[in-house]
Amino acid sequence: MKTKMLVDCDPGHDDAVALLFAAHHFDLIGVTTVHGNASLENTTRNALSVMALANIDAPLAAGRGEPLVAKAHEATEIHGKTGLDGATLPAPTRKPIAQHAVDFIIEMAYQHRGELVIALVGPETNLAAAIKREPRLASWLREITIMGGSTTTGNITPAAEFNVYCDPEAAAIVFECGAPIRMMGYNVTRETGFTHADIERLKQSGKQVAGTIANLMAFYLDRQERIYGLTVAPMHDVCALIPYVVPELITDINTSVRVELAGTHTRGMTVCDLRGVRPGSTQKITAATRVNARVALSAQSRALIDLVIDTLLAYP
Ligand code: BDR
Ligand code: CA
Repeated sequence: MKTKMLVDCDPGHDDAVALLFAAHHFDLIGVTTVHGNASLENTTRNALSVMALANIDAPLAAGRGEPLVAKAHEATEIHGKTGLDGATLPAPTRKPIAQHAVDFIIEMAYQHRGELVIALVGPETNLAAAIKREPRLASWLREITIMGGSTTTGNITPAAEFNVYCDPEAAAIVFECGAPIRMMGYNVTRETGFTHADIERLKQSGKQVAGTIANLMAFYLDRQERIYGLTVAPMHDVCALIPYVVPELITDINTSVRVELAGTHTRGMTVCDLRGVRPGSTQKITAATRVNARVALSAQSRALIDLVIDTLLAYP
């Protein structure tokens, strides 16, 4: 049976790929949108356009346009003014449902008790607000998989990765909620992306979806090269979905993750207890501190990206 998945996102170039990946591999229960790479209005329109491009049939609920406490912070330098620059996307063919994402998440979690995986690939605001409203929510979820945080460097500050940086208070609520959590952080995702050759392969396929994604990725890779010196277009968000298709591609550890809310230089940092992880050791280590997440340490990046490309090429 396919994994039941709800994707909470802020498209965003890598979010767009994550949506396509999710619709192909999972029982996509719904899509929710949040502030992040662009305004809520833009991320919602972008998500609907990607769904129109690939004929993805799932309800979409728009969510929170602001973090719980902080001020919104966009990533237009990476994703462009619209949040998804680089290609002409079809106009949306459906409207968001009337229900707010926070209520939709609660309803879906209840309806699919014990089965639903929520993938958070934008700031964690919607789920945090839902947990605050319905404290039993965490116990209804099968798992939460998060693209966010890092065991090493951040991208927005030396310590903080974008999704957690945007709403650290929300991330802290989610990490503390008690549901099983996977953390796929920037330490893994920045190494895992499309090369120029991959983008060319998508372009040359002659397929509409892959061709459009190729144009988007060319824009995004250019920004990633210029701003972060990366040589791949990092597929941050899709990494969080990989464990539900080919878990062997990820090496992880069960440990403690705490979100820094107050540090002068470290607000938004995910403090991961890796004291027991020695380079080169194959020993399974249990952290001394309270375990609340399964934290990715590495990925078989090439195989992972090949799987993503094959998935994109499966679309017409
Ligand atoms: C995360 O930030 C966003 O720009 C990406 O979509 C991804 O979710 C990477 O730090
Ligand atoms: Ca994202």
